Parts: sequence; structure tokens; C-alpha cells
Amino acid sequence: MKKSIIKSTGMFVPPNVITNHDLEKFLDTSDEWIKQRTGIEQRYWINQEGETGSSDLGLEASKIALKSAGWKPEDLDFIIFATLSPDIMFPGCGCLLAAKLGLNSTPALDIRQQCTGFLYGLATADAYIKTGLANKILFVGGEVHSSGLDKSTRGRDVTVIFGDGAAALCIEGVETDEKVGVLASSLHADGNYAKALMTELPASKFPVRFPPDVPIEDPSYYPVMDGPAIFKKAVRMLPKVINESLEKAQINLDQIDLIIPHQANMRINQALGQFLKLEDNKIFHNIQKYGNTTAASIPLALHEAIEQERIGKSGDIVLFTGLGAGLTWGSVIYKFL
Ligand code: UT7
Repeated sequence: MKKSIIKSTGMFVPPNVITNHDLEKFLDTSDEWIKQRTGIEQRYWINQEGETGSSDLGLEASKIALKSAGWKPEDLDFIIFATLSPDIMFPGCGCLLAAKLGLNSTPALDIRQQCTGFLYGLATADAYIKTGLANKILFVGGEVHSSGLDKSTRGRDVTVIFGDGAAALCIEGVETDEKVGVLASSLHADGNYAKALMTELPASKFPVRFPPDVPIEDPSYYPVMDGPAIFKKAVRMLPKVINESLEKAQINLDQIDLIIPHQANMRINQALGQFLKLEDNKIFHNIQKYGNTTAASIPLALHEAIEQERIGKSGDIVLFTGLGAGLTWGSVIYKFL
């Protein structure tokens, strides 16, 4: 049977480093508060001039992943793009990226699952490979948050945590009897909590999607979040979904070499580590450098974990997990070939 194997990874962040001290210049916040409550020290934001969409960041990450896999864009038979911040309302970033890669008929799918976009994307890639629908898949998670944040003090809880960035994976179907590749996926969603983290406008559900004069001060145009509610949900649901995926894969937590959680808040991931009684080096963190890059966060962390040789040897097992807007949450277990 074919197994879904990660051939390569790539990542790209825009050039502008925004430190916590930079945010202090226009928000009522402090480096101390941000570090203590979230673990974040800096994030990257796109340039204020010109146009840079999630597909542009995704293109740079894709070029690196494709080069490292030794693939040309024409080798791809499927593209999956996860983002909550598409360049434009439609068409999706997958189509835009495909065109930027010089392709004109490769199928492309957008995934709108926010922080769990990577988990849903990897599970989808795995299903496409196992059912024979595709064999060489490019997955990209990319976000441009900075252009849509409420940069007044009203939005400080959200604005300080988000960063821009993208990461890409080349995933290939490989025929082998070994128990490798995606061992298990557990995915969930609960739309009853949609309002806990959302951007409401523009919304097609209203008779007039765009009011004649868009009131820039209206919070409905910006992401709003019930941070403490999501924090508590994450701490409660992540251990459960991790156990669910371990049971599916029929392995123990001890057999996991590294956990790569969504990078939403260092304290969530530390609490997860304490709950699961894990040694510190079993959980990967890079939120200090990038903030929360949503759909890019787990693949970006995977890229760095491989570069730092924390994971990636044949037989290593990594567990990915996360919870975010939707609410959606999940866990995917992967064993390196
Ligand atoms: O990736 C998507 C999923 N999202 C998450 O997983 C996010 C989960 N939640 C969180 O990460 C945290 O809830 C936050 C980092 C967003 C907030 O941290 P918190 O410890 O839950 O703080 P809080 O919302 O309970 O606010 C505590 C205080 C409040 O002031 P008062 O009412 O105690 O006077 C806030 O107004 O901190 C204030 N505050 C800030 N102060 C300085 C909120 N944001 C800021 C800020 N700078 N940026």
C-alpha cells in the first residue's frame, strides 16, 4: 500500500522583524506582558508598500521545498493551500500559487481551517495519496495577518500574537509495506464556538456585503478573539485528541520522538507538556521568533525542527497537534521513512 512520505520542507518569512518594543510604539502593551503571557519576542510582517499576499510567501517557501525534493512544478499532481488570509476573497491561494509556479492545469484546493490547516491538509494529502487520486502533492500553509489586524489598543490581545509567514511540504506516495508515513489522523470541529475567534466582515450573509463607507473603526472588520476561552479549550482538548490519535496509530506516547504543536501561545504548549508529563525537549517551540503564523505555524516548526536535527531520521515519529478558530482541533502522527 502507498504511504504518504514528506520528501522535503521549505519556509519563508517576510523581511521585516517586528519586535515587542516596536508594538509598544503604537499599542498600549509591553514587551514584558507579551513575553510573559505568550512567549513571543518578535514576529515578521510584510512591507507596508506594494502587494504581498499569502500566495507570494507560499511561492518562496514552495520553491525551497521543490528544490530540496528535486521536483519541478510540472511534477506536481495536486496542490493544497491552507490559509485564513487569502490574497483576495476568491479565487483561492492554491490557484494563485499554481499560476505563479507556471502551471495552468494542476488541481489546487484551498483549506480554510485556520490554525489546524496543516493537520487537515496533511490528512487530506494522505487520503488523496492512499486512494490514488494524487501522488506528488505540494502542501502550503501561508498567512499575511499584519494587513488585517486592529492596530488600535482595542485589538492588542490579537495584534501582538500574529505574524506573517509560509511553509511548504512536498509529499509523495511511496509503495512500501513498512508502517511509515501518516500513521493516524484525528480531526474535529465545533462551529458552536465560531464567535470565539473570527473576522466577521465582509460577510456574504448580509444583504449588503460592503457598506458604502466602510467604517474603519468597526471591530467587525478585524479578527476578534475570546483568548481565555480558547486557551482553556486548547488545554482541555489537545491531550484528548493526542490520546485519540495515539490509540488509532496503536502506539504509546513514549514512542513519540517530538511533539510539534501549533504555535499559538507558549503557555498552552507548556501546559500540554506538564499534563502529558513530557520532558521539555519533547515539545518544539519557535513562537518566540515568529509569533502565531496560523496555517504556517506547524509546517514552519517542522522545517526548523528538521534543520536543527531534532527530528527527521528514518524511524523518528512526530506528533502534530493544534486547536484554533472554528473551533477546529486535531492531531496527526507521522513516521519518517
Ligand atoms: O491560534 C489561534 C488560537 N488562539 C489561541 O490559542 C489563543 C489562546 N489565548 C491566549 O493566548 C491568551 O488568552 C492571550 C495571549 C490572547 C491573552 O492572555 P491572557 O493571559 O488570557 O490575558 P487576558 O485576556 O485574560 O487579559 C488579561 C489582562 C487584561 O487586562 P485586565 O482586564 O486584567 O485589566 C487585558 O486587557 O491583560 C490585558 N491585555 C493586555 N495587556 C497588555 C490583553 N492584551 C494585552 C496586551 N498588552 N497585548
